Amino acid sequence: MRPQLFTNALLGGLVAGLASATASSSVSLATATCNPLKSTGCPADPALASSVVEDFKSQSDHFSVYSTPDQIFYTDEGLKLTLAKRFDNPSLRSNFYIMFGKIEVLLKAANGTGVISSFYLQSDDLDEVDLEWFGGDGYEVQTNYFSKGNTATYDRGGYHKMDDPRSDYHNYTIDWTSEALTWYVDGQAIRTLTNDSSQGYPQSPMYLMMGIWAGGDSSNSQGTIEWAGGSTNYDDAPFSMYIKNLVVVDYSTGSEYRYGDTSGSWTSVDAVDGEVNGRQEKADAEFEALVSGDSVDDEDEDDSTTLSGGSLSRTDSSASASEDGSHFASVSSVASGSIPSSKRSITSDTQASSAATTLKTVNSASSLSTSAASSSYTASASSGAGTQHTVGLLNLFASFVSAGLVALTLI
Ligand SMILES: *[C@@H]1O[C@H](CO)[C@@H](O)[C@H](O)[C@H]1NC(C)=O
Ligand SMILES: *[C@@H]1O[C@H](CO)[C@@H](O)[C@H](O)[C@H]1NC(C)=O
Ligand SMILES: *[C@@H]1O[C@H](CO)[C@@H](O)[C@H](O)[C@H]1NC(C)=O
Repeated sequence: MRPQLFTNALLGGLVAGLASATASSSVSLATATCNPLKSTGCPADPALASSVVEDFKSQSDHFSVYSTPDQIFYTDEGLKLTLAKRFDNPSLRSNFYIMFGKIEVLLKAANGTGVISSFYLQSDDLDEVDLEWFGGDGYEVQTNYFSKGNTATYDRGGYHKMDDPRSDYHNYTIDWTSEALTWYVDGQAIRTLTNDSSQGYPQSPMYLMMGIWAGGDSSNSQGTIEWAGGSTNYDDAPFSMYIKNLVVVDYSTGSEYRYGDTSGSWTSVDAVDGEVNGRQEKADAEFEALVSGDSVDDEDEDDSTTLSGGSLSRTDSSASASEDGSHFASVSSVASGSIPSSKRSITSDTQASSAATTLKTVNSASSLSTSAASSSYTASASSGAGTQHTVGLLNLFASFVSAGLVALTLI
């Protein structure tokens, strides 16, 4: 069984930490980095506290461009994310967080050796719940999870046989409660993780990410390339993944979710003006209705102003996916809790040596796009989930990397 080499957060964090350091000295890494396990002063996370359905026929107010805006398309069929050339990593990130809930996505994974289609939940303290598909692999999906960014265990990843995820849309469901986490494909449970797992249990407020990237890029470590299923051949591009529908229900109520201490335990999370698991029954009912195509009273369709608590009251809803990553600036400034994970650095002394190894590997590779250095937000937007984006900047910030941003290659 192939190991999962990294968390998506670690990849994104590495890249963007570098990017923001490079881009502008006015972007302080200290403020860009807030892991609630290490600090009690982190900004709270804007709560969804309702239900959302998206067909992605047009840009959604609930999602921001995370990377590669020019390869994100809203079509009659829904969302299309295209890897057209090397270093493309089109991806979206939700502006909201959920504190337990259910997610269902109708998704068709991309073709292409080494091309990874990904859909995952992630928290500020680096809990993660993943679904990933391999473009060279027509018969399985990988499920994975991380607890508090811990990559030191290797049997978290699960591989599940299914009909070719690249030839048709399939229905993937994540049911995440304080008791268990269950992944479904086409309504069949494929895996359940209970909250007593010896490797930890994801239990902190999560945002959603979806994107496509080349795990098989030659700038990646050999382990990553192998995990991805081999080297990506860009002559075969473009590669696209598709999302036709997305339903998200939050089990909790409130305006924002705040870590009460540095334990990372869900029982320490404070739902401000609300309650953790305060709407579970209601949410389950809404979920059933929404996945059947019905609407619900509490539904929050394409109208961010109705977001409970209004902490995400983005007013620039006309902002389009074609703008650059500076989009994040406005979102972050309105909702301070939504600083992209790409703006957080990960520190792990014990893993410094593997970071050094990584550094050598990527140093020999090609250079990062110049846009990464032109603005901090553009830089973060070009980070996403792929290691390949780190190249180049690593040359400039080697010491920074070896000091703080590691854990990339654990194998
Ligand atoms: C993948 O390739 C197959 C065979 O060419 C094609 O039928 C399918 O539509 C492709 N899938 C995607 C997501 O492009
Ligand atoms: C874990 O789940 C069990 C039910 O399976 C529940 O009784 C218990 O409270 C949960 N533990 C935590 C820490 O949530
Ligand atoms: C997807 O699966 C869920 C159960 O996990 C089911 O309730 C829902 O109706 C399915 N949706 C589609 C479009 O098949």
